[in-house]
Amino acid sequence: MVDIKNVVVIGAGQMGHGIGQMALLAGYNVTMVDIKDEFVDKGVAKIDEGMKKLEAKGTLPEGKSAADLMANCKKSTDLASAVKDADIMIEAVVERMDVKKGVFKTAGENAPPHCILASNTSTMSITEIGKDSGRPDKCIGMHFFNPVPLMRLIEVIYSDHSSDESVEKGIEFAESIPCLRGKRYVPKVLKDRPGFICNRVTAPPQIYQNYCFDKAAEEGLSWDQLDNDSRGGPMSMTVLADYVGIDVLYHGQMYYSQTLSPDFKPGKVITKLFNEGKLGMKTGQGFRDWSKGRPQPDKTAGKARIYKLKYPLAIMMNEACRVLDEGITKNWKIIDDTLMAGMNMPGPMAANVNTWPKQVEVLNELVEMTGVEYFKPCELLKSGKWVEYK
Ligand SMILES: NC(=O)c1ccc[n+]([C@@H]2O[C@H](COP(=O)([O-])OP(=O)(O)OC[C@H]3O[C@@H](n4cnc5c(N)ncnc54)[C@H](O)[C@@H]3O)[C@@H](O)[C@H]2O)c1
Repeated sequence: MVDIKNVVVIGAGQMGHGIGQMALLAGYNVTMVDIKDEFVDKGVAKIDEGMKKLEAKGTLPEGKSAADLMANCKKSTDLASAVKDADIMIEAVVERMDVKKGVFKTAGENAPPHCILASNTSTMSITEIGKDSGRPDKCIGMHFFNPVPLMRLIEVIYSDHSSDESVEKGIEFAESIPCLRGKRYVPKVLKDRPGFICNRVTAPPQIYQNYCFDKAAEEGLSWDQLDNDSRGGPMSMTVLADYVGIDVLYHGQMYYSQTLSPDFKPGKVITKLFNEGKLGMKTGQGFRDWSKGRPQPDKTAGKARIYKLKYPLAIMMNEACRVLDEGITKNWKIIDDTLMAGMNMPGPMAANVNTWPKQVEVLNELVEMTGVEYFKPCELLKSGKWVEYK
């Protein structure tokens, strides 16, 4: 197997520049590729800024300056020539299947035969993305979390055709990428299923959130009142939705509605905001007005008494059991560790080793209340046999 020296990152946006910076810190040669010079320049300027901050803190690798590391960073807008000497390509372009497939096709036609082609998609099928690459055994998923320098998780994912050798090489590479906040955690994801592990377990609580948004709207309650139901986290429900982006939620839910269950279809409130172009923080208006910075919900408005934390917790437990049942991972501890590394959130499993029958009751109550079939407790949860997956 060829050792990895040359890394090509496609897409110099939010994720791409983070991946590029960390790969440079690990000592690789990095080429950043985007569709326009101005986009590559912007991404590389952010990498340079990040390196200079680390230099000022004295945390760059021994004997290296920011300028030394930046000397290993090249820029390109020509994907075909950029991958000519690549040992691994990491694609971090927009979350659109047609664009990703095009990148994999061009890379497959032009990269050396040993080059691994990895996608940083958050949800989509790696098998489909690599379909026209001409080297399906070399295509894998490599899912970093945002912000890449700080979030410890990198999921490395098998497509239906990835060779063990490609996945092992991907894991070795991912483990070599430094994290500024602790040691990387790199679970092997055994099945190419929507959302992989972390995003899959945390996706169905969005169905419940949509229920809450729509119910609050129907009952004429304010977003302040709904947010007061869920105080305690770093951001309340509607502010978090605006921060993530209404378009990101909308497209993600549409994708899951086509691949997992129609129950993921975006709710009335999210659909209305999306259609009106009120996409949240990025457009200055979503649920909230962001024109004067991050909105602060009015704590004096009282509560809507709709949202209850016990429901998303039970929903995640149920989904984690589905993840085990589908063979996406074989060990429940991996699910907990993945959520902690990717979201700074304790996973649902360890906490429920003795209390899972309660979660079955909570889910039945939720189905009764919402009529949502997807919340039905799955067989593996009901049997309690999930505890044997270790
Ligand atoms: N932002 C997140 O929180 C996050 C987390 C994990 C994974 N992801 C995934 O990472 C990928 C990138 O997301 P992002 O947030 O960095 O997006 P972004 O919009 O910040 O960056 C995407 C970049 O890709 C470029 N691009 C588009 N088409 C291209 C092409 N054909 N060739 C080269 N470059 C092209 C765009 O010009 C842009 O600079 C997506 O698949 C997303 O789902 C995002």
